[in-house]
Amino acid sequence: MDRIIIRGGNRLIGEVTISGAKNAALPMMAATLLTEGCSTFRNIPELRDIVTFKTLIEHLGGKVEQEGHTLRIESGTVKMPEAPYELVKTMRASILVLGPLVARMKRARVSLPGGCAIGARPINLHLMGLERMGAKVRIEHGYVDMTAGRLKGADICFDTPTVTGTENLMMAAALAEGVTVLENAAKEPEVVELAMVLNKMGARIDGMGTDTIRIDGVEELRPIVHTVMPDRIEAGTFMIASAMTRGNLLIRNCPLEDLDALVVKLKEAGVEVTPEGDGVRVVGSGQIRSVDIKTSPYPGFPTDLQAQMAAMMSMANGLTVITETVFENRFMHVSELRRMGAKIKIDGRTAIIKGNGRLSGAPVMATDLRASASLVLAGLAADGKTEVSRVYHLDRGYERIEKKLAAVGADIKRVKDAPKARQV
Ligand code: EPZ
Repeated sequence: MDRIIIRGGNRLIGEVTISGAKNAALPMMAATLLTEGCSTFRNIPELRDIVTFKTLIEHLGGKVEQEGHTLRIESGTVKMPEAPYELVKTMRASILVLGPLVARMKRARVSLPGGCAIGARPINLHLMGLERMGAKVRIEHGYVDMTAGRLKGADICFDTPTVTGTENLMMAAALAEGVTVLENAAKEPEVVELAMVLNKMGARIDGMGTDTIRIDGVEELRPIVHTVMPDRIEAGTFMIASAMTRGNLLIRNCPLEDLDALVVKLKEAGVEVTPEGDGVRVVGSGQIRSVDIKTSPYPGFPTDLQAQMAAMMSMANGLTVITETVFENRFMHVSELRRMGAKIKIDGRTAIIKGNGRLSGAPVMATDLRASASLVLAGLAADGKTEVSRVYHLDRGYERIEKKLAAVGADIKRVKDAPKARQV
């Protein structure tokens, strides 16, 4: 397993370009299952999750080829509507094939994703919606087994906004007979982008980006060519990195309009955030002010930037209260930050951080995608050497992050562990 070694204290100065959004690319790849023919996506990030999703589509019978950041998917050959445990357990987003397969193949057998480090991650709302649209659901041997005739439009209300739940049902409803209304729908920019892609394919969707999305089902959808939007979470991660290292970073191709909640908090913390060209310039001062954070569904503060902000607040001077309202166990980074000198107490879904203005480098272990980003940021700001292990978590959602950071002055490198000698 690779490790990342950082010697902290360097200011990040220069410019960095944001890659395509993982959480926009994955649902779009799933949407190709609704069509026959070849779709082309540009600005696809080179990430482990994208490779896993390619493997899944090929397992279903589709053909996928990737040249750099361009991906072509031929979905006319999809025959096998089954997503196996071996693939789904490595990437929960595999559940996104459920809606398209039921809508197009009238059948789907998808392994239950199971939980992950940050929470139980149930899919009851996905299943509730598809049942209301006429699918018959059977759960056994760890799989969701679904059969349906042509799905029927239905009125569906989510108990809580769910990003992939909204995406799954939007895709299923696109080919259903009649109108589907999704109430309390997720409003994330990636959900809006998927709705726009589906409409480019011939769907009739409106209300995306609001609580109520209306989908008027059509008979068939056509393949498309589309350029994936930039990744707001990668952009936010680099903005926080600049703030933590007294940096002066120009973050190119940054969807600033999707990061209002973060920008407000960074400015409150004393960080200069100025739109510049197609991106934003972020200038960190020597002093970081403590600010309280409460995560919530978009447009609230994104849960996917909570761990990164916890690292930054560990460097601040004062008391910070972070409340994580979306996932029940998203403080896995805290015990590792404590090893670096952070003073953090956890009480249920609240973390209380007594910022003491400094962190010290230490060996730490990544547990999930955004926790690993938090540890890298802490290493950039800490005194001395930090070694982050299990960086495969990081590779799921950040394209060559150590190269991008080194290019703007970080003392950071990836070390590949020699394969363990076989025990004889
Ligand atoms: C998406 O996960 C993202 N993943 C996550 O990003 C992100 O953290 C999350 O949305 C919240 O923004 C992708 O888009 C691939 P949810 P998702 O369904 O859809 C509860 C990253 O780091 N819920 O919006 O799985 C659930 O338990 C990843 O890139 C149900 O109760 O999240 C949670 O408390 C991590 N029943 C809340 O809703 C359901 O059927 C929000 O979850 C579905 C969800």
